Amino acid sequence: MGRLIAIEGIDGAGKTTLARGLVEAMPELVVLREPGGAEVSERIRALVADPALDVDPRAEALLFAAARAQLVAEVVRPLLADDRWVVLDRYVDSSLAYQGAGRELGVDAVAAINAFGTGGLVADLTLYVRVEPAVGAARLRGGLDRIEQAGAAFFAAAVAAYDALAAAAPERYVVLDGSGAPETVLLQALTALKRLQ
Ligand code: TYD
Repeated sequence: MGRLIAIEGIDGAGKTTLARGLVEAMPELVVLREPGGAEVSERIRALVADPALDVDPRAEALLFAAARAQLVAEVVRPLLADDRWVVLDRYVDSSLAYQGAGRELGVDAVAAINAFGTGGLVADLTLYVRVEPAVGAARLRGGLDRIEQAGAAFFAAAVAAYDALAAAAPERYVVLDGSGAPETVLLQALTALKRLQ
């Protein structure tokens, strides 16, 4: 079995920069961003992101869970079975924070549909890149997708949910200060990954 590492945090936290840094430093890592190249997930995510659509929050949560289920079955599980280390730029916690807390569906309810979707596949380690909501918002510019258009209260709720998840399972989370220099965030993440070996 390989290892599953998730990168989490709100929009503008610097997750994608971290993911890029990780793969440069450890080329053996497989870095995937949901929908991650699975065609079914790709199509579902296009639908969820479309600002022209009015997607009900429950439908939104189920669609993210469905896209994730396909990615896990088609891509992630085979890689893990092949002993690869897989880094996911967003995983279940994104749904807990955004749909569970942000959309107020309840973290437990969203956790349940995701446990079903993933067949219970939990990340071995979650790198939580933490920024205050205002910092994330300031870093995003133009071209916001349907979800990124949500307001400040939505992102404040998402940050609170991420904080609570990290506090509840400190052995599986590393909290990285996303307001700092990208190199510092990367070094701290690499240190955390070494401990997984
Ligand atoms: P993503 O494509 O990861 O973000 P980016 O805009 O950085 O490319 O995600 C798009 C949006 O979807 C983002 O605002 C986060 C949101 N999202 C959820 O609300 N729930 C989820 O489960 C996931 C994976 C993303």
